[in-house]
Order: sequence, then structure tokens, then C-alpha cells
Amino acid sequence: MRNIVILISGSGSNMAAIVRAAQRDRWDEHLNARVAAVLSNRADAPGLAIARDLGIPTAVVDHRAFATREDFDAALMAELDRHAPDLVVLAGFMRILTLGFVAHHAGRLLNIHPSLLPAFPGLHTHQRAIDAGCRFAGATVHQVTAELDHGEILDQAVVPVLPGDSAEALAARVLSQEHLIYPRAVAEFLRGLSSN
Ligand code: GAR
Repeated sequence: MRNIVILISGSGSNMAAIVRAAQRDRWDEHLNARVAAVLSNRADAPGLAIARDLGIPTAVVDHRAFATREDFDAALMAELDRHAPDLVVLAGFMRILTLGFVAHHAGRLLNIHPSLLPAFPGLHTHQRAIDAGCRFAGATVHQVTAELDHGEILDQAVVPVLPGDSAEALAARVLSQEHLIYPRAVAEFLRGLSSN
């Protein structure tokens, strides 16, 4: 059985969408895969309770307990390795990872970013898209590489930017699409692993 481990920092709605898709579409039977654990860098992430309600084991590695990014990533890697992940899925995980972490999981580390990459890497993507006068915005599922918000694009969704949009309204429109493309991209990625 292939183990998927999902990393979150906040509400965990993308994580929940992936877990629900895995359960609904019987990834255990059809893709030989399961969501083995959900990890968070914040003990107060609301997504942790959602994961537990969905029957997924959770763990917290609090970044504030570590003096350096390297120390945190080493602890995160140790916790991750306890679940023997074949695929690590970042879902609203708001920490920049060290090169060592990315190298350790190279080729099996996915992220979702709330913009149409390569436009608007980094933070505040929705306000930046509005400020730039974009007519369209969206989200991107991509492989994680050493460079922030780069790496091979696996899927994208496009939404319109409407006149008078606030960043919050646009974020909600984008997020509803994230919930469709992220489970789909993870399933597709798993299918690719199966055929290798
Ligand atoms: C999502 O919009 C995701 O794309 C974004 O955070 C939100 C998390 O929501 N990720 C990033 O900005 C990564 N740099 P969720 O916790 O409800 O899935």
C-alpha cells in the first residue's frame, strides 16, 4: 500500500478534499494508496480535527520549538518517515522547506499554490492578481523543487476575476476549484507511480 502523508498549517480544506476523494473513489482498492497521516506545524490548525473526524491519524511538529529551519525540517522529516510516505502532499502548509527536505522527498512532493504559476509565486496572490488587473486567476498543482513555487506543473484551474472582487471573494472562488484539481492531480500522480 502506498502511503500519502498530507502537511497542513490551517483550515485543511484541500486535505479534506483529498481524503474524501480517497475514501469515495476507493484509492485503497484502485490505486493501492491511502492517506496514512496528516501532519501540521501548528497544534491549533483547524484541519487537524477534520482529519481525525475523517479517521486519519494526525501529528504536530511545532516549528516554534526549534531554533533553526534545519532543526525543524529534520524533526518534520523524522515524523514523516515514521509513516513511510510514498507521496508527500503540501496542502496549505505555510513553511518554506529547506533544500535538504526537498531533496529527501524529491519527485514525490506536491504542492498547491493559489495562482496561475508562473505568475505570482509567494504570498498575497489574490490581491496581487486584482492589483495587476488580471481578468483570470486560479490555482496550480506542481511538483516541489528547490525554488519556491516552481517545479513541474501537474494541473491548473482558472477562474474569472470579477469587477469589484475582494481578495477574499477571489480566494473563495479559487479555493473551490482547488478542491477539484488537487485530488485529481494526486490520483493522476499515483496512477503514474503504479505504471512505473
Ligand atoms: C489554499 O488556498 C492553498 O492554495 C494556499 O493556502 C490555502 C490553504 O487552504 N497555499 C499557499 O498559499 C501555499 N503557499 P486549506 O488549508 O483550506 O487547504
